[in-house]
Amino acid sequence: MLASGILGYTAQTLQSVVDGGAGAVVTKSIGLKPRKGYANPTVVQTDCGLINAMGLPNPGIGTYVNEIREAKSVLDVPLVVSIYGYSEGEYAMVAKKAVGAGADAVELNVSCPHVKETGSEIGQDPESLVKVIEKVKASVVKPVFVKLSPNVTSIADVADAAVKAGADAITAINTVRAIAIDSDTALPILGNRVGGLSGPATKPIAMRCIYDIYERVRVPIIGCGGVANWRDAVEFMLAGASAVQIGTAIATEGPGVFQLVSRGIEEYLGRKGFRNVNEIVGLAHKT
Ligand SMILES: Cc1cc2nc3c(=O)[nH]c(=O)nc-3n(C[C@H](O)[C@H](O)[C@H](O)COP(=O)(O)O)c2cc1C
Repeated sequence: MLASGILGYTAQTLQSVVDGGAGAVVTKSIGLKPRKGYANPTVVQTDCGLINAMGLPNPGIGTYVNEIREAKSVLDVPLVVSIYGYSEGEYAMVAKKAVGAGADAVELNVSCPHVKETGSEIGQDPESLVKVIEKVKASVVKPVFVKLSPNVTSIADVADAAVKAGADAITAINTVRAIAIDSDTALPILGNRVGGLSGPATKPIAMRCIYDIYERVRVPIIGCGGVANWRDAVEFMLAGASAVQIGTAIATEGPGVFQLVSRGIEEYLGRKGFRNVNEIVGLAHKT
């Protein structure tokens, strides 16, 4: 699956990812009202991944429903709309509009590490998290994925609370809080100063999160964070993921990365004598 925020704005960019072999796509996170996002620079490249603080720029759901309708008319894979809000009521309203326009599922961004009063501020507070999920579940009939932040003491506790509140699947993980400083200017590089790290450096962190969550809950886990090739995807599945999302690797490998990953998984299953992918989900937990 395409991860939220990378090429996930328009029907055309989503289609380009499907052409590259993605089995499902997640849109950029959309809120109730339009939001400009932060001043540049919003992304910085490091030795081991990207740090971004985009600031959730988006046109608001009122306008974005047209893009959802357009995407639904051209895509032949499931369309997941990522949403955020500043209260449970806002999350529910955006979810309802997204599903009304044709979303096959919604993914609740309760894990953005750099925007105040939404994202991880909700995901790090179990009471708010539960309220958001319950309200969204009462408002839509489609599956609700909950995307969690690694910036917590126990992601398994948060996943447990999310599932008890009704989450149909857990996406793990969003970016890891990070900063880059320029030695010449002696200042933080990003407009927002602090951002979220994605890409290869986050893979072992995501893997541990998936592993811990799998030990605690019984809903599908969608692994995300640093997947760039089939081996990464297989390792995520062995840790407990039923599917994986890819974001940053599109920048280095191009949209064809999806086809390479799914072909590689199939070849691995054949080589090892597995009949299908379900046989390897969580295998690393067997004693
Ligand atoms: C430029 C950029 C923008 C992102 N925007 C969003 C977003 O709008 N909503 C969200 O839930 N995650 C967002 N993310 C996080 C990704 O969906 C993903 O969780 C993270 O990048 C880890 O996966 P990766 O290493 O494959 O990129 C963004 C990541 C990047 C690099």
